[in-house]
Amino acid sequence: MAQAVAVLLVLLVAQLAASTFKICAFNIRSFGKAKAANRKVMGALVQILSRCDISAVQEVRDSKGTAIRMLLRELNRYDPSHRYGCLESKRLGRGSYKEQNVFVYRRDLVSVTDWCQFGEEDSSPFEAFARGPFAARFRSPITATSDFVLLLHHASPREAARELDLLFGVCMELVHRWKTQNLMVLGDLNAAGAYIPANAWAGIRLRNHRAFHWLIGDKEDTTVSHRTCCAYDRIIVHGEELFGAVVARSAKPFNFTHALGLSEEEALEISDHYPVEVNLRLAPKAQREL
Ligand SMILES: *[C@@H]1O[C@H](CO)[C@@H](O)[C@H](O)[C@H]1NC(C)=O
Repeated sequence: MAQAVAVLLVLLVAQLAASTFKICAFNIRSFGKAKAANRKVMGALVQILSRCDISAVQEVRDSKGTAIRMLLRELNRYDPSHRYGCLESKRLGRGSYKEQNVFVYRRDLVSVTDWCQFGEEDSSPFEAFARGPFAARFRSPITATSDFVLLLHHASPREAARELDLLFGVCMELVHRWKTQNLMVLGDLNAAGAYIPANAWAGIRLRNHRAFHWLIGDKEDTTVSHRTCCAYDRIIVHGEELFGAVVARSAKPFNFTHALGLSEEEALEISDHYPVEVNLRLAPKAQREL
């Protein structure tokens, strides 16, 4: 009897934990071989990423691609209840400094149906980005909105205001190309502090067009350091269907210093940014089956 109750409790807890679909964007400062070889850092990273159904990982810096493969291997080992896979952008950047954006996602719950790298061809109107934005289209049978696009971007700090405005054009292009309204812009947009002068906001279409909902407010702090308080990392939702699927007030930075009981110094070894995350509601059918 007691055993049956224990089993039921475990199932109930598992159901509560899985009753939404979590998406995050996480700038893992300079994620390369050195970090991948650091057991403490990797241990924290898998704890953070295994909370999410899709993680939009940024600042992957490893020309051989071994760091991200090691991360996937550790993640699949840590959480065998899912099969984690990834979709990598090109290596982005104008000079010799290159970095990648990578979607890490649970292949058993969501699949990639299309993807698009902006700003790579010389003829592209989007070459004005220091690093081209990376879009992926996802399909999941369990989310309230089964088909949605994530547009991941790491803005150049010095050009953040201009790039934010250009992202509006990228979104319109995606709406046209993929015939969907369901878009989420996410990532380290450097959309705060000195990078966006107060008088620049008025000229940023992504900010002012009413089809876009900014879920991470200007007062949030997405930085790990106690010395800074800036909402650099953002989640912005376009399209009423996708906006309707967002769990109210679920969008927030994930303070892993607090959650993992770390010192500021230990946390900074992992990254100088907190992930920003949001939950989507599940389809009614998926809720019944869980
Ligand atoms: C994160 O948590 C730590 C530890 O509890 C705390 O000192 C810090 O102020 C928190 N940071 C933010 C941005 O909430």
